[in-house]
Amino acid sequence: MSERKYRIAVIPGDGIGGEVIPVGQRTAEAVAAKHGFAIEWQDFDWSCRRYAETGRMMPEDGIAQVKGFDAIYLGAVGWPGVPDHVSLWGLLIPLRRELDLYANVRPVRLLRGMTSPLAGRGPEDIDFIVVRENVEGEYSEVGGRLYDGTDHEMVSQLSIFTRRGTDRILDYAFELAAKRKRKHVTSATKSNGIVHTMPYWDERFAAASARHPDIATAQYHIDILTAHFVQHPDWFDVVVASNLFGDILSDLGPAVAGSIGIAPAANLNPTREFPSLFEPVHGSAPDIAGQDVANPIAAVWTAAMMLDHLGEATAAAELEAAIETALEDPATRTRDLGGTADTVACGEAVLKALA
Ligand code: NAI
Ligand code: MG
Repeated sequence: MSERKYRIAVIPGDGIGGEVIPVGQRTAEAVAAKHGFAIEWQDFDWSCRRYAETGRMMPEDGIAQVKGFDAIYLGAVGWPGVPDHVSLWGLLIPLRRELDLYANVRPVRLLRGMTSPLAGRGPEDIDFIVVRENVEGEYSEVGGRLYDGTDHEMVSQLSIFTRRGTDRILDYAFELAAKRKRKHVTSATKSNGIVHTMPYWDERFAAASARHPDIATAQYHIDILTAHFVQHPDWFDVVVASNLFGDILSDLGPAVAGSIGIAPAANLNPTREFPSLFEPVHGSAPDIAGQDVANPIAAVWTAAMMLDHLGEATAAAELEAAIETALEDPATRTRDLGGTADTVACGEAVLKALA
């Protein structure tokens, strides 16, 4: 057997992060053993818990600490008592920006045996990927507040769209579509209401389309696009969107595929200059944390995306297939999927399907 070994920084984070990430690690190790590679994990306790003790979500040199790893595997951060913008801007956003994780990739697939909340839809109807711009756009610190506390108090916040940032996410989406069967990219826009940045986005989308003539395209304003996700999920293959629109679409997408408890995500640095970060779409779920009922499938599927990015495509595909096999048995589904299995039992079912 070869000696392939990957070093992965693990940030379980808060709430159910600490329950689902160990399941993801165990399943990744099991598939690694079958495919002759090893994973070396190193844990980091960066979280709201740490914030409460130290006043920081991560140490000042946190980014430098993880830069040398092959990948980062994160549960979720956020906990009542720490404002969400503090946990997000204290950890996830700096990681995304400083590691230049500009492509947030979120697959949406109706797995075999799962029922979509959309009546009459089967696995052949729901199989698309949302590609979200992850480091600029509407999520910017440019702006401010004036005349605080007075009756002419005002706030402003600027959206930032650079040519480099826009072109590279659009190209990523087209290149991803080229690897898929349907070879189709949909752009989320709002160039009727947002008159500077969104017409620019459309212009760059047209230019990217010209660079990729074999890929079919469509474009919709974000408002009607959300309706199409529900009424015509079968129209979509790769959907590319700005940071804000992509954030919304990538929660709606998993909802049409059944549950946020199964939705995986990758924050990619496609140039591989820095490690990419892999995290389930869901948050820390304080409402169910500590009860052992969290669905670990999103974390397991996320681990599969990580293995795929590391070059272990066969192992990744096998882990994904094991998820689907395990979930076919209603007895292995967690509460969010209408079942009664606990977190650990659901993970055991994936391990069994792998073996
Ligand atoms: P959430 O995803 O934590 O929870 C939304 C709903 O989905 C809850 O009812 C929860 O019980 C359920 N849910 C989520 N994951 C589940 C799973 N694996 N199995 C079963 N049910 C699951 O989103 P919410 O409530 O908006 O945020 C809670 C905290 O998480 C906040 O502090 C928020 O900022 C943070 N958050 C962090 C994210 C991250 O680190 N990437 C992403 C989203 C939220
Ligand atoms: Mg979100």
